[in-house]
Amino acid sequence: MSPQQSDDRAAPAGAAATAELYEPSPDVLEAAHVKDWENARAEAEKDPVAFWEERARELDWYEPWDQALDDSNAPFFQWFVGGKTNVVLNALDRHMANARKNKLALIWEGENGEQATMSYFRLRQEVNRFANVLKSMGVAKGDRVTIYMGRIPEIIVAMLATVKIGAMHSVVYGGFSTEALAERIEDARSRVLITADGSYIRGKTVPLKQIADEAVARSGYVEHVIVVRRTGEPVNMEASRDYWYHELMALPIASPVCETEPMDAEDPMFILYTSGTTGRPKGVLHTHGGYQVQIATTLKWVFDVQDDDRWWCAADPGWITGHSYIVYGPLILGATSLLYEGAPDYPYPDRWWRLVEQYAVSVLYTAPTAIRGLMRFGGSWPQRHDLSSLRLLGTVGEPINPEAWRWYHNTIGGGRCPIMDTWWQTETGGFMITPLPVTPLKPGSGTKPFPGIEMDVVRDDGTSCDPNEEGKLVVKRPWPGMLRTIYEDPDRYVEQYWSEFAEQGWYLTGDSARRDEDGYVWIIGRLDDVIKVAGYRLGTAEIESALVSHPSVSEAAVIAVPDEVKGNVIHAFCIPTAGTEKPTEETLKQHVRKETGPIAVPARIEIVDSLPKTRSGKIMRRVLRAKALGEPVGDLSTLAD
Ligand code: WT7
Repeated sequence: MSPQQSDDRAAPAGAAATAELYEPSPDVLEAAHVKDWENARAEAEKDPVAFWEERARELDWYEPWDQALDDSNAPFFQWFVGGKTNVVLNALDRHMANARKNKLALIWEGENGEQATMSYFRLRQEVNRFANVLKSMGVAKGDRVTIYMGRIPEIIVAMLATVKIGAMHSVVYGGFSTEALAERIEDARSRVLITADGSYIRGKTVPLKQIADEAVARSGYVEHVIVVRRTGEPVNMEASRDYWYHELMALPIASPVCETEPMDAEDPMFILYTSGTTGRPKGVLHTHGGYQVQIATTLKWVFDVQDDDRWWCAADPGWITGHSYIVYGPLILGATSLLYEGAPDYPYPDRWWRLVEQYAVSVLYTAPTAIRGLMRFGGSWPQRHDLSSLRLLGTVGEPINPEAWRWYHNTIGGGRCPIMDTWWQTETGGFMITPLPVTPLKPGSGTKPFPGIEMDVVRDDGTSCDPNEEGKLVVKRPWPGMLRTIYEDPDRYVEQYWSEFAEQGWYLTGDSARRDEDGYVWIIGRLDDVIKVAGYRLGTAEIESALVSHPSVSEAAVIAVPDEVKGNVIHAFCIPTAGTEKPTEETLKQHVRKETGPIAVPARIEIVDSLPKTRSGKIMRRVLRAKALGEPVGDLSTLAD
C-alpha cells in the first residue's frame, strides 16, 4: 500500500504556562561543573564552532582535524574534517592508561534478579574478543551489522565490537517484531545479525530468535546469525548459518587483542531507524567524530557525571537514548552505569526504587511515561526505599506534565534533585534543549538550547514568533552530533529536514513549540504524522501498513488519542476487504503485534464501512479524531462524502 498522507495536523498536547520556578540549591550550585548557565551560553554563542572545537580537544584523536566545520556542501555538513578517531578509542581504549581500567563500567541486573558487573578492563576484553569473532565472519569496515536483543550486557559488547572494527551497527529494539525487523535488515543489507534466544519482560519471555528467523527468511541478505543464550528456551539453530555467542567466544579466534580501527571523523558509525511520515522507516546515520563530541559534552555538562556517580539511564540501548546515554556517552566519560533488563513494576511496583537503593544510583534519567506509570501505584512504593543517593534526575521523550514533574521531584528526588528535561531527537544525536543543574527550572519546559546550539520558534515565513506564540521549532546552525544523512537516501534527508526552510538553511525538527517571556521553550507536539506512544516514536503510516497487510483489511487510518499514562494511544479505523470475513479487533491487534511489535498495537480498532476523505482521496484524520474525542468536527467543506 502506498502511504497515506494526512490532511491535517497532530493535536497539540497542552503545555500550559506555569509560574512555578525552581531555583538551584546552594549544594547544587557548589557541585556544578558549569556554575553560570547564561554566561556559558553567551560565551559559546560568540563562536559556536570554537566552542565545539574546544570540547573536541577533551577527547582522544589519532590525528587532529584540519577543519572544525565544513559547510561548503550544506546540508551535508561535516565536522572535524581530516580528524582520525574512533568512538571506541574514547569509550574504552583510553581508560586503560589510568585507574578507570579497574572501575566498573557496567552493573547489570536481570529481571529475575541475576547480577553481573564488568570493569572497563573486562568490558574492553570482551569487546576485543567479539570484534575478532566478527572479523572472522568477514565483517569489515563499512559493513552493517544488525543487532536485535534485550537489555543484556552482550548488546553493549556487540555494539562496541562492531564500531571498533569500523563497521556500522543497526540496532533494532527488542520490542519490534518480524516485519519491522525484516524491513530494517533489508534496508541496511546486513549480512550478520546478532540476537538472543529470547528476552525477559514482566515474567514472560519474548522469542527473539524465532522472530529473527522469520525476519531473516523474509529479508534475504543475512548469512550469519549469532545467538546469545539468555532464556535457555529451545531454539532452532540452522547449521552453518547460526552460531552460539558463547561457543564463538570460546574459540581461539576470540583473542582479547584487537586493534581499534582508526576512522575518519566523518566515517559512518551507526544507523538507527526511526519513524517518519511514510511507511518506510528512516535510517538515521551518525558518524564517529562529531557524535562523540556532542554526547560526551552534553552528558558531562547536563548530568555532571563524576567519578563517584552511579548513572542510570533507564532507556533501552535500542533507541538513540540508549546509544548516546547508556552506551557511548557514559563510557567516554568513564562512568559507572546501571543496566536493568526488565519491567519497572516487576515483580512489584517498587522494582526501580529497589534498584536505586541497592545500587546507590545517583543520577536517574528516564521518560515521563515511565514516571506516570509508576506514579499510578502511589507514593508508598518509593517511600519504602532509601532514595537518598539520588542527586539529579532527568526526563526525555515527550513533554512532562507538571503533576508528574512534581511527583518525580518530591517523591523520588526528595525535593533536592533538579530535573533535567532534555529535548532532542534520534536525528540530533544528543541533547539540544536542556537545563544544566544550575538552571532555574519550570516544570514542563526543557528551558533553553544547550551552549553552542541555536534554535528558534518560527512562523511559516521564517520570522521569529512572539513570546507564547506557537510556531515551528527549528535549528539554525549545524551541530556536531547531527545526523549526516538518511542511509542511502540523501534526497529524503534534504526533503525531510532541510526543504521547508531551504533558503535560510535551517533544520526542521517536526515539533511545534512556543517560547515564553523568559525565553523558555515549551514543546507542544509533532507537526507531522508521528505519534508518541509511551515515548516511542511511531509513524501513522507504519501502523496503517501493518493493518492493511492483513488480508481482510483494505484500508486503515490511525489517530492519536490522549492517554494519562502513555501520553497518547493509537485508535485505528479499518475498512474490511470486500468478500472476506469481517476481521475482529483482537485478530487485528494480534496481527500488528506480530508484524510490527507490541509497542505499535492500537488500543482500539474499529471496523468501519468508510473513512472520511477529501475529494482528492486523502483521509481526514482530523474528522476521525474529533469524533473519537467527542469534539466538534469543524469545517467539512472538503469532505467528499
Ligand atoms: C521527539 C523525538 C531523543 C530521545 C528520545 C526521543 C519528542 C523528545 C522531549 C522533551 C518534549 C520531547 C519530540 C521530538 N521529545 N524529548 N524533553 N520534551 N518532547 O527520540 O524517538 O527521535 O523522538 O520526541 O517530539 O521530536 P525520538
